[in-house]
Amino acid sequence: MADEATPEINNLNIEDKVPQTKSTGQIVTPFDVSGGVDESGKLLPVDYDKLVQQFGASPLTPTILERFEKVTGHRPHRFMRRGIVFSHRDLTKILDLHEKGKPFYLYTGRGPSSDSMHVGHTVPFEFTKWLQDVFDVPLVIMMTDDEKYMHSAKIEIEDAKRYTKANAKDIIAVGFDMKKTFIFSDFDFVGGAFYENICRLAKRITINQIRGTFGFNDSNNIGEFHFCAIQSATAFATSFPQIFGTDFKKVSSIPCLIPCAIDQDPYFRQCREHAEKMKYKKPSLIHSVFLPALQGPGSKMSASVDSSAIFMNDTPNKIKNKINKFAFSGGQETAELHRELGGNSKVDVPFQYLTFFLEDDEELERIRAAYEKGEMMTGEMKQRCIAELQTYVTAFQERRAKVTDEVVAEYMRPRPLEWKGNPNPVVAEKK
Ligand code: TRP
Repeated sequence: MADEATPEINNLNIEDKVPQTKSTGQIVTPFDVSGGVDESGKLLPVDYDKLVQQFGASPLTPTILERFEKVTGHRPHRFMRRGIVFSHRDLTKILDLHEKGKPFYLYTGRGPSSDSMHVGHTVPFEFTKWLQDVFDVPLVIMMTDDEKYMHSAKIEIEDAKRYTKANAKDIIAVGFDMKKTFIFSDFDFVGGAFYENICRLAKRITINQIRGTFGFNDSNNIGEFHFCAIQSATAFATSFPQIFGTDFKKVSSIPCLIPCAIDQDPYFRQCREHAEKMKYKKPSLIHSVFLPALQGPGSKMSASVDSSAIFMNDTPNKIKNKINKFAFSGGQETAELHRELGGNSKVDVPFQYLTFFLEDDEELERIRAAYEKGEMMTGEMKQRCIAELQTYVTAFQERRAKVTDEVVAEYMRPRPLEWKGNPNPVVAEKK
């Protein structure tokens, strides 16, 4: 976290330029997420529509979802149907490639900052696993232990490395296919072709660009400035000769799709700005929102605040107590009033969590309608949410228990991957 930063989401040299709009006090950078506060000091929810506009990304429209379904033959994931995965950059380029059976890969990552991940962290990974199944393409997962060391006064190198191993187990438990997945720690993997790409980028990114994009100032350490080149270099296929081979010209033309929470977009704006000058393809992105903290919209779950989040190692009982005790409710003051006026599902945290984790659209809609009409009470809503989260976390813990140190080592070993891509590509007509 950059303590003395003065964030401004603006950068004159960037092509994916951030238009000059009036600021609302909303701040979203990789190091700071806040919807801002109103005049009375109340936390405001993050305004995602405004953010997409400010960042210059594109909303995930019904037209794109239709095309996604047509090209992949899969109904869009519930996150896409419900606005949880809500915006993108150049997703259509990836769909065009997939349609033709041309290569691309998936890239996502995690900044390991604690021993256990929370449910909010698993959202982009759940989605990435689904994309890996749908597209049948290689996936690289970057563990930015160097980033966390550089950005935190408290985290030592040994801590960051320990978190990497522990978090890699959590990530593997999401269910990634080992044959198609390479997980790496920056501390271990920087070097060779990857380091060459880091340098190619570092040479092009100026202090000015970083300052503007990340809100850094002269008191940030130089490692924080440099790290942008490291996170971005993973978006180039030539960084992974063991996966894609060493035919530099051919491999240069393989782009990636990056599923990530929207706060990571600033890194990749930098990357996209420079990619073509380096004779690489710009990465495409697909963005998700944050899972709100138990305390309500306007905040996000924090790995360092136990009461803000459901952790993937919480017991069923702990989950129950946290939801009952801390989850912000959109219900009315009294049961009588609630029956009369109904609850507000838009701010109700248990209902928000159900939109993330309950697969069945019709059931979700029944719950929403009953709650808003005052037929369903706050207690019942919490009950439903507790049951769903307990099922999700318990299933995760069962898979996690099977992930041994040897399994982690295999996922993290640089090696060739196996994938098939689109089994029925549309072959371009020969003229
Ligand atoms: N910086 C991210 C974090 O702190 C980790 C990360 C690296 C990442 N590369 C990524 C996240 C690509 C999403 C996509 O968590």
